[in-house]
Amino acid sequence: MKHALVIGGTGMLAQASVWLSQNGYRVSMIGRNPEKMQRLIEKNPEGIIPVSVDYKATEKLAEQLSHIQQKNGPIQLVLAWIHSDGPDVIPCLIDSLPRDSEWKLFHVNGSSSNLEEIKARVSVPAHVRYHQIQLGFHLENGTSRWLTHDEISAGVIEAMRDGKAQYIVGTLSPWERRP
Ligand SMILES: NC(=O)c1ccc[n+]([C@@H]2O[C@H](COP(=O)([O-])OP(=O)(O)OC[C@H]3O[C@@H](n4cnc5c(N)ncnc54)[C@H](OP(=O)(O)O)[C@@H]3O)[C@@H](O)[C@H]2O)c1
Repeated sequence: MKHALVIGGTGMLAQASVWLSQNGYRVSMIGRNPEKMQRLIEKNPEGIIPVSVDYKATEKLAEQLSHIQQKNGPIQLVLAWIHSDGPDVIPCLIDSLPRDSEWKLFHVNGSSSNLEEIKARVSVPAHVRYHQIQLGFHLENGTSRWLTHDEISAGVIEAMRDGKAQYIVGTLSPWERRP
């Protein structure tokens, strides 16, 4: 079984995390809130492993990444939703995950993110297959709204299946029609 890491998977990415755990991955799940973590694990107790750490604590994060890979093998896929208060998380992943074999990073970004700027900033090495997923909004019959958690997770699953370098969930245009 392959090993995936999900960061921020107990919120809007919960269904996408469960999908990974049902599609060939043992999923290590980073989060802080025990109740949210428990609710997610109940959906697949065999397939989702809690990793209780605050990703802002970089040293602790690195320790956990080393520990879970010793236990469950090298991580081959990362799905990450990281707030702006975690600028060291991706550098820590690059240092802690395999350096001699390929792994995939699906990086989820908000609607107003500048993907090219983010890509330049994260500067992933050649052995990391970097995929950006951008959250948009829903536009129908002249009205717009933000995406639901189910829509976000469904779009993120599609993005992981599709494998494009950049994938938009929902729409971002026309930008002036956003909710
Ligand atoms: N369209 C858009 O651009 C857009 C963008 C962002 C959000 N949204 C909407 O806004 C809502 C709220 O967003 P949200 O960011 O709160 O997303 P969320 O996915 O509901 O929750 C954040 C996730 O990140 C984890 N997390 C946050 N800080 C962490 C830390 N320091 N260490 C470890 N894990 C951490 C949380 O787990 P713990 O709580 O356990 O730490 C949780 O799993 C979303 O549910 C979504 O509907 C829309």
